[in-house]
Amino acid sequence: MIATLQERAAARSSNGHLQSNAVAPAIEVEELTRRFGSFVAVDHVSFTVPSGSIFGFLGPNGAGKTTALGMMLGLIPTSSGTARILGHDIHTNLPDALARTGAMVEKPALYPYMSGRDNLRLWAYLAGIDDPERVERALQEVDLTARADATFGSYSTGMKQRLGIATALLRDPDLVILDEPTNGLDPAGQREIRALIRRLAASGRTVVLSSHLLYEVQEVCTDVAIINHGKLITTGRMQDVLHTRDSIEIQVDRPLDAAPFIEHLSDVDQVHIVDDLLVVTVDTSFAGAINRKLIEAGFEVSGLRPRQRRLEDEFLALTGLPAQNGASDDTD
Ligand SMILES: Nc1ncnc2c1ncn2[C@@H]1O[C@H](COP(=O)(O)OP(=O)(O)OP(=O)(O)O)[C@@H](O)[C@H]1O
Ligand SMILES: [Mg+2]
Repeated sequence: MIATLQERAAARSSNGHLQSNAVAPAIEVEELTRRFGSFVAVDHVSFTVPSGSIFGFLGPNGAGKTTALGMMLGLIPTSSGTARILGHDIHTNLPDALARTGAMVEKPALYPYMSGRDNLRLWAYLAGIDDPERVERALQEVDLTARADATFGSYSTGMKQRLGIATALLRDPDLVILDEPTNGLDPAGQREIRALIRRLAASGRTVVLSSHLLYEVQEVCTDVAIINHGKLITTGRMQDVLHTRDSIEIQVDRPLDAAPFIEHLSDVDQVHIVDDLLVVTVDTSFAGAINRKLIEAGFEVSGLRPRQRRLEDEFLALTGLPAQNGASDDTD
């Protein structure tokens, strides 16, 4: 399914000049930084959003998601760094960067006494889109055609959110950027938004959504970037980022000397010192060999045990947020 989506996105964005194995990324964020006085809200963040992906931008409240998305869309000035959107640099060519991009970062102003359709018509008019068919297509995409003539004020919270997303679809964008699209919705409303996001991707669009909920991003996204306190923690394909990382914990007499020694052993990915323990990212089958090498090198090993941490645990440890939140009511 994902491969097909990416192929479709590739075909869509290449205008027929598709190079077989090189699809340009939808977004390349490079060292993006924003300071407010001495406070660094977004700190040299870099990541790539593959074309055709459903990309989750995950982080707790205050992590810097809205600020980063705002900079990428030219709404918030950057302190340094840049982003290329659909191949165009936001500093040198913002109009082209945004020409095929639809975004909902701030909640769009929609009038309660006007119908959903009239609200969208007004948005289209203000955006200079004079094709009435675009309004109808956007209504269809968010599944509101049947309720299009009801007033916006009579909509449920989920329907209001979907009409907000429709404003981002009026240009028939290749790239859709949504800041916390399920915020404030009940599980049924969240599910509707996820279904909508999947439909947007199935029609060949790249979708970027921010969220503070790990389970939500896990459920719908193909790729992810996690930020906290303005810094990128990890990014990549969902299945790579989510895989259980085997590691072993070693209690050793001189951890500061032992860490670089272990780091140089083959098969070892990473070594961290956590509370005087060495946490070594390595296939646990190498535990015995590492123990032997430490002893041969004169270290005194007083404890060694495997440790398995899933991304959930890491996310919780880094952010203090539970990974599962309301997911039990949610079966899609
Ligand atoms: N205009 C501003 N002036 C000063 N500080 C700001 C400004 N805008 C944002 N910040 C700070 O920057 C940090 C990142 O805010 P941001 O809104 O980007 O986070 P977020 O990840 O979107 O959070 P949330 O989940 O609450 O929406 C926060 O500490 C916020 O208080
Ligand atoms: Mg935000």
